[in-house]
Amino acid sequence: MPTTPEKLSKYEKIEAFVRGFKLSSLTYKRVMHLLNEEMNNGLRANSNHLADIKMFPTFVRALPDGSEKGKFLALDLGGTNFRVLMVVINERDVDIQSQTYLIPQRIMLGTGVQLFDHIADCICRFIRDHDLKNVRLPLGFTFSFPCKQEGLAKARLSKWTKGFRCEGVVNEDICYLLHEAMKRKNTTSVEVEVVAVVNDAVGTLMSAAHNDRNCEIGLILGTGCNACYMESLENVGLWEGDYEHPAQVLINTEWGAFGDNGCLDFIRTEYDRELDTYSINPGKQIYEKMISGMYMGEIVRLALERLSMEGLLFESADRDCELFHRGRFFTKYVSEIESDHDEFFRNTKQVLDEIGVTNYTSEDCKIVKYICTLVSARAAFLSSAGLATVINKLNKPEMTIAVDGSLYRFHPRFHNLMTLKIQELVNHGLKFKLQLSHDGSGKGAALVAAVAMRLRDIKENQCPA
Ligand code: GLC
Repeated sequence: MPTTPEKLSKYEKIEAFVRGFKLSSLTYKRVMHLLNEEMNNGLRANSNHLADIKMFPTFVRALPDGSEKGKFLALDLGGTNFRVLMVVINERDVDIQSQTYLIPQRIMLGTGVQLFDHIADCICRFIRDHDLKNVRLPLGFTFSFPCKQEGLAKARLSKWTKGFRCEGVVNEDICYLLHEAMKRKNTTSVEVEVVAVVNDAVGTLMSAAHNDRNCEIGLILGTGCNACYMESLENVGLWEGDYEHPAQVLINTEWGAFGDNGCLDFIRTEYDRELDTYSINPGKQIYEKMISGMYMGEIVRLALERLSMEGLLFESADRDCELFHRGRFFTKYVSEIESDHDEFFRNTKQVLDEIGVTNYTSEDCKIVKYICTLVSARAAFLSSAGLATVINKLNKPEMTIAVDGSLYRFHPRFHNLMTLKIQELVNHGLKFKLQLSHDGSGKGAALVAAVAMRLRDIKENQCPA
């Protein structure tokens, strides 16, 4: 960062505390190599049980072709909000009506029965508010957690991520839990049938592929971080379905768990380790914790706290203010601070006011912004290394990557940083485009449901009961 000679020693000291966020191209290439190995371990039948990256086959075998039609319900569970949607697809036209409901923390950390009862309540409310009583609509469920799928509409939760820890759900089929909760509602006028469970990365890819046939990868950069892509069945050691045409299946990589075996320890900083120690799932989702929105603000906070303790920032900050409390520096602040482009630091000052830091100087603002840029650039570059690994693996001359998630949407530099880094890391001659995907969770789930219904109709017409 720019400096004057008399300040050099202060900035040198700051550098010593944050230089771990700056990684060389060679390091990112090493990360790619490791990720590739881990993904292959996840794909192979004989190593999957030991692999951190589970590479779950999804039972989605084809991308939409634009001929899909119908009216569907969709559910979207994956963060602090839960959404119910009504999606009407008429070939390329998609109409969505949705309602968002909060999932209170006591439910995120309660029992599975409480969670699914809450979901069932929200569905009933939605159906009542939208006059859908006695209408039987097929439902696509976007459930954005690692699941082992046994069919398109059968998915067992493998573990919770992103701050959820509801008892009694791991290893259970979430469609069964939802149907049971709906039965407990004891209402005959509301009937739902889950025809597809999808991950948000899968929904994102499906939604974008509806308009762009070149879409090959789905990426989420939001509360969590994950990617999916289409893999040939011959490479999917755990595949238990049929081998009919097309001989391919979408893989939900669950790459957020990359590094859980310690292979990324060489790039983790003291702040990453501290964040992990105090998280709800220590030792888990190591790659995700260096990238996604659930954690980025806290990494920045830990670095700022450290600099402040060392007397290098906020000389007279009150130790009771939010800056010194876990989880009180949100990732949206990082985006806001990095949107400052002049020496007035309007957003930065607003954030500092909001978290109760007083008596800050312009120099403090400059340092705060600098730390934000380091942490977010590392996140953008690490996710680029992930994408470049998959792009190289697919080895197609041109492709679109469908991206969704609050971090990608709202951070002012993420898209550009990623585009530049991926260019640097992909094999020569491979062209790519990062494309924001709209409402992957709703539209994507409905599209998967639409394809499932179409296939079911074909089957029923072939073998009449
Ligand atoms: C977490 C979940 C994964 C999801 C991602 C983005 O990594 O485990 O299923 O896709 O967050 O929401």
